[in-house]
Amino acid sequence: MLETFVGRLALDRPGMVASGIMDETGASMARMLDSGAGAVVTKSIGLAPSPGHRNPTFTEVKGGFVNAMGLPNPGIDLFGEEMEIAVRKGKIVGSVFGKDPAEFSELAGRMEDYGACAVELNLSCPHAKGYGMEVGVDPALVKSIVAAAKSSVSVPVWAKLTPNTHILGEIASAVSDAGGDAIVAINTLKAMVISPEFAAPFLSNRFGGLSGPAVRSVGVRAVYDIRSAVDLPIVGVGGISDWRDAAQYIMAGACAFQVGSAIASKGVNVFEAINRDLEDFMRSFGYSSIRDMEGAAHE
Ligand SMILES: Cc1cc2nc3c(=O)[nH]c(=O)nc-3n(C[C@H](O)[C@H](O)[C@H](O)COP(=O)(O)O)c2cc1C
Repeated sequence: MLETFVGRLALDRPGMVASGIMDETGASMARMLDSGAGAVVTKSIGLAPSPGHRNPTFTEVKGGFVNAMGLPNPGIDLFGEEMEIAVRKGKIVGSVFGKDPAEFSELAGRMEDYGACAVELNLSCPHAKGYGMEVGVDPALVKSIVAAAKSSVSVPVWAKLTPNTHILGEIASAVSDAGGDAIVAINTLKAMVISPEFAAPFLSNRFGGLSGPAVRSVGVRAVYDIRSAVDLPIVGVGGISDWRDAAQYIMAGACAFQVGSAIASKGVNVFEAINRDLEDFMRSFGYSSIRDMEGAAHE
């Protein structure tokens, strides 16, 4: 009942681990696949190793978290060891970030070589200079990045978009025009926390990204808007921690969803509860499949 398709990619269960949480090592990714996730999206990986921003990089706020990790990662060469362990266990979507089409294209190809079942382009991180959101709010650049990635892989290419823009529909159209296979929405919302005692920003990077329940309504709206703008599969993410949150995204137009912050706040078994409760809801309300529920709020 919970099986779904993101375009041509079949998943036994609709919930995936979102990029950045429990997905930096082969062992943690394998652990999450054992806990009821239909797939795991890796931490976003770049060409070279990077330590990310200096601490503090993470803080809790009402309704979620604000982080500015700064895309710490071991670099694509070393990440091969982790992928080798993870892909033996289940479906792994390789998330990558770069500064231009050439970097994205190279990274996408490497992820495919490592056995990724799809590649997710991070066009949306709000706190890494020259990367993420800074490239993901320009429709022309998004189009050339997606096209470049498409030309170097045969697995599906997903574009992860930022809600920090007023031209989301245009950006989604750029992904579609370039032949992108799916859109993932949303990444975190650009945010800031100030320590009154120090009269200074709390995070070393000053700005970060808000995640968790506080962003859910923004994410659901973004998915609804994208569904109205383009005819591409959508993966919903942002503030999902139970079946009700997941159902909102599916009814807004998503065929699958991802969970990030709730793994930190509720623990690694969050997928088991979502799967069980979502199935109960579907039975009670007469939905026979995820496809049956997809976009229901538009009708
Ligand atoms: C600590 C942390 C690290 C993250 N790292 C990444 C990342 O490397 N790449 C990416 O595309 N998104 C990253 N994200 C964003 C999440 O994948 C997700 O889009 C966002 O947190 C909203 O979902 P959530 O409310 O379920 O956490 C990160 C989020 C958090 C909290």
